[in-house]
Amino acid sequence: MSPFADRLLSWFDEHGRHDLPWQHPRAPYRVWLSEVMLQQTQVTTVIPYFARFLARFPDVASLAAAPLDDVLALWAGLGYYARARNLHRCAQVVVAEHDGEFPRDFDAMAALPGIGRSTAGAILAQAHGQRHAILDGNVRRVLARHAAIGGWPGVPAVQKQLWTLAERLLPHERLADYTQALMDLGASICTARKPRCLLCPVQADCQARIDGTIAQYPAPKPA
Ligand code: ADE
Repeated sequence: MSPFADRLLSWFDEHGRHDLPWQHPRAPYRVWLSEVMLQQTQVTTVIPYFARFLARFPDVASLAAAPLDDVLALWAGLGYYARARNLHRCAQVVVAEHDGEFPRDFDAMAALPGIGRSTAGAILAQAHGQRHAILDGNVRRVLARHAAIGGWPGVPAVQKQLWTLAERLLPHERLADYTQALMDLGASICTARKPRCLLCPVQADCQARIDGTIAQYPAPKPA
């Protein structure tokens, strides 16, 4: 059987999303803006907001220089307003401390406001092809099922297992596509309810599918 990443990338070439606005070009500012918007909001909702933000704030300097109220007004409707405040603060830190360029260093990226480990990895993989894992809600579900990792992912030991697996599965090439492919698989095939396992490129060695226990992963928060 070919490696997980090879199968996922072949699937992505045929069935993945290749026309998302932040993919053309995959510039750091655009990828960062999209990833923050996508943290808690679906792609179809994000697309028009992304376009309006870019039209109004074409680069990180214009966003940093804007009044917070303007940013919040443009964010209205996306929810989770802490994200908009962090977005604005992040732009200001990038201008003040990084000469207006998003850092290429993982630790520097992950230290920015509103950017955790997964978002830092997602940005560096997509914008620069760096080899970093991601682990958002969709990816947690894919990986928990594929390796039948039980336990609620809110438990640090479970979270650690998932990160270790996410890193072990990484390819050495095409990190931008791989990152998008994993998110696309979680959004379209390995869905929370009624997953489409028969269409899944990694079904053959999916342990939860083999065991017939897909619905048990990821385990819910204990009552
Ligand atoms: N969620 C977070 N990042 C995403 C992306 N690049 N595409 C789709 N969903 C996402």
